[in-house]
Amino acid sequence: MHFPIEAVRSTYPALADGFAYLDGAAGTQTPQPVIDAISAAYRSGIGNVGGAFPAARRSGAIVAECRAAVADLVGGHPDGVVLGPNMTTLTYRLARAIAGPGDEVVLSRLDHDANVRPWTQTGATVRWADVDPVTGELPVDQYAQLIGERTRVVAVTAASNILGTRPDVPAIAALAHRAGALMYVDGVHATPHGPVDMRELGADFYATSAYKWSGPHIGAVVADPALLETIRPDKLASSPDTVPDRFETGTAPFADLAGVTAAVEHLAGLVPGTGSRRERLLASMGAAEEHELGLFAVLIEGLETMPHVTVYGKPARRTATAYFNVAGHTPRQVAEHLAGLGVNVWNGHNYAWELTAALGIRDSGGAVRAGLVHYNDRSDVDRLLEGVARLS
Ligand SMILES: Cc1ncc(COP(=O)(O)O)c(C=O)c1O
Repeated sequence: MHFPIEAVRSTYPALADGFAYLDGAAGTQTPQPVIDAISAAYRSGIGNVGGAFPAARRSGAIVAECRAAVADLVGGHPDGVVLGPNMTTLTYRLARAIAGPGDEVVLSRLDHDANVRPWTQTGATVRWADVDPVTGELPVDQYAQLIGERTRVVAVTAASNILGTRPDVPAIAALAHRAGALMYVDGVHATPHGPVDMRELGADFYATSAYKWSGPHIGAVVADPALLETIRPDKLASSPDTVPDRFETGTAPFADLAGVTAAVEHLAGLVPGTGSRRERLLASMGAAEEHELGLFAVLIEGLETMPHVTVYGKPARRTATAYFNVAGHTPRQVAEHLAGLGVNVWNGHNYAWELTAALGIRDSGGAVRAGLVHYNDRSDVDRLLEGVARLS
């Protein structure tokens, strides 16, 4: 499908500064409709939820619309959308409520630390799934040995935030469910890169962060409301005990939640389409994935053919995310050199704490990450490759 890249780029005011934004995996830029939705919410008057006056009712509507939008994005139920400041905070909250001493949790070394440490710190016994450091794959067959009758949770990412690896989550989920364990899927890196169907993934919990997909700094964990009914998180005596509200602490940033809804609408409209918002999201995100992977083929081949560049991982199914080092330069030096040429990339371990240790580069500064999202174009890729080539 044709991807209208110029029209998409023109909705992002920040892209006008001329930089090649290849740092999307650390957070995307914000399109005008999201900026407008946030300021419109503040302009119209918002009160705290539950009040008797219109401004309070507007906030209630903003929350409901946000839950419906996030549910559409991931294929979940609006009443199972738990909103919070970010994925890390929500995962700590849920992990404490779900697992504890006496349980076993199966974690992967492919994961961002936000889907690792909250589980290890519950006091549960940890069993580790390892990564093939050459391919960057997470072999599924090891899970048959790792999952047992005491397994409470299997936590795994839908995509690695540095290598882009998309592990076979449905196959891991089938093994988890056969043993009666819960699947906690980190969709923070995966969500912006293609259509998401949490049921197809076999996710009992699907975590995502709106700032990775053109929205404000808000996280969400989506689950079946009936499952949430069985879990009792720490909460105030005075706050609602209903689901999903009882998983949310304090007062929500209502204007930002309006921005989340606008971000979902924006994603649904990346390509022209008809049908329900869910249908338009599936079509639009499919087109975005095709666009990203087309550009990524050029990017990764360009890096792999440079003798002074080491590219980490070669997973069969991946997002458009490259992780590499350049001989004779630290990752930070490479990032600084590229910044001088107007190219934004990340350097370091990027919180892929276990994975960078498995790759043997955590203590030496990790590597450079260049990632594509739907608003990147061919000139961004060419500028990266030209910049890296100059370091030979
Ligand atoms: C794969 C992955 N998981 C989790 C996180 C943490 O997300 P948050 O910043 O919303 O806590 C990130 C952030 O970079 C990520 O890339």
